[in-house]
Amino acid sequence: MCLFRTGDGSLSMRHPRHGEGYHPREGARTQAERLYLEASGVTAFARPRVVEVGFGLGLNFAVTLARVRERGGWLDYRAVEAEPAPWEVVAEVMGEILPELPGLLEPHWGRSVVVVGEGFRLELALGRAERWSLPAEWADAVYFDPFSPRVNPVVWTPWVFARMYRALKPGGVLVTYSVAGRVRRGLEQAGFEVERIPAWGRKRHWLRARKSDAPPHEVEEGYEGVEGRA
Ligand SMILES: C[S@@+](CC[C@H](N)C(=O)[O-])C[C@H]1O[C@@H](n2cnc3c(N)ncnc32)[C@H](O)[C@@H]1O
Repeated sequence: MCLFRTGDGSLSMRHPRHGEGYHPREGARTQAERLYLEASGVTAFARPRVVEVGFGLGLNFAVTLARVRERGGWLDYRAVEAEPAPWEVVAEVMGEILPELPGLLEPHWGRSVVVVGEGFRLELALGRAERWSLPAEWADAVYFDPFSPRVNPVVWTPWVFARMYRALKPGGVLVTYSVAGRVRRGLEQAGFEVERIPAWGRKRHWLRARKSDAPPHEVEEGYEGVEGRA
């Protein structure tokens, strides 16, 4: 198992095939808080609706739920995962944030499932983001977290971004760590207004993409290859 402690003490894992970390080595939890939770604006909602591409080790979910609970809110979370990580790793990572979560999820791991617990509803879909069906104008925020475009280019496409655009409410926000030119252009092609925002750790910038009031752009399915740095 390639489990390791990141700089802020929280756990993460390296993918056994391509070697990329599930989270940055400077701090898994810090990225979850600063990029996904805070830069997305989720903290402003008492009852946020979040979509996540790449449930991974469940860290973003657990960190978001912990914050929502502190404020007595309710979290509605829909996530997709193509290749579920080993359960022991997920249980350890999530359990460090919210100890009761592993017990709720364990019986269902590796399947599509809806779990309802204290302060949340989680709909976890087993499958690929490219084919994931989501309700229109549902989400306040999208956490776009499917490994980097370098190792996983097929998901960083205008086609997938357009699906996220449709799933967001007007004014909703997609956040991600990649600022590669092709990613920015792909998001704009799908209809988003894109800005670079200050990042943390090794990265200078992250991306925030906002849905305008305009209808989604027509984007053809397909993959041209998204190159460039993450
Ligand atoms: C960087 S990790 C996500 C970390 C996670 N968000 C967390 O908080 O622990 C990327 C995840 O995206 C998943 N993934 C990659 N490509 C995908 C795709 N096309 N559809 C769905 N999930 C995908 C991977 O299997 C992996 O679990």
